[in-house]
Amino acid sequence: MDSQLTGTVAIVTGASSGIGEATAKKLAEHGASVAVIARRQDRLNTLVTAIQGAGGSAIAVVADIADRSQAGMAVQTVVEHFGRIDILVNNAGLMLLGTVMDQDVEEWERMIAVNQKGLLYMTHAALPHLLAAAKDGLREVADIVNISSIAGR
Ligand SMILES: NC(=O)c1ccc[n+]([C@@H]2O[C@H](COP(=O)([O-])OP(=O)(O)OC[C@H]3O[C@@H](n4cnc5c(N)ncnc54)[C@H](OP(=O)(O)O)[C@@H]3O)[C@@H](O)[C@H]2O)c1
Repeated sequence: MDSQLTGTVAIVTGASSGIGEATAKKLAEHGASVAVIARRQDRLNTLVTAIQGAGGSAIAVVADIADRSQAGMAVQTVVEHFGRIDILVNNAGLMLLGTVMDQDVEEWERMIAVNQKGLLYMTHAALPHLLAAAKDGLREVADIVNISSIAGR
């Protein structure tokens, strides 16, 4: 397993299912060490086992990214384990659809807490490490990928 991402470290939030899980596997296939973040530890552990079984490198970090301190601690755990962060994929999110009249306002608050605040907490905590990684010459770039939705726009 050797490619353009060899030596890099990626964080994928919301990696316990769906797009995040698939993204984590693909990044690992391309040589990145991957930290997978979500709340469901059993699913993260299964993913880490699958990535390692395919020859990749991964760790599971359980965190609710809507909680600022948990988001910060998750980033810290990744840096302590892998020593750097080159790529942050802000994927964790909810889509609780409904009409404005019928929508439960608490559902809006949950979506804002994860989709917006969680993304900002993760980005704020990871940014100094991403900038340091961009400077150190490995690829001379770091990446933040935000998974969005036309529903959000
Ligand atoms: N699928 C689509 O058609 C589609 C279309 C447009 C946009 N999107 C966006 O793409 C992203 C992924 O969608 P998906 O379809 O793959 O959804 P999914 O399978 O439901 O995955 C969502 C992920 O977010 C995690 N998550 C939710 N709340 C969290 C929290 N508070 N802290 C940490 N992790 C949290 C979930 O893990 P835990 O429950 O284990 O925490 C899960 O891993 C979302 O942002 C979604 O809005 C998807």
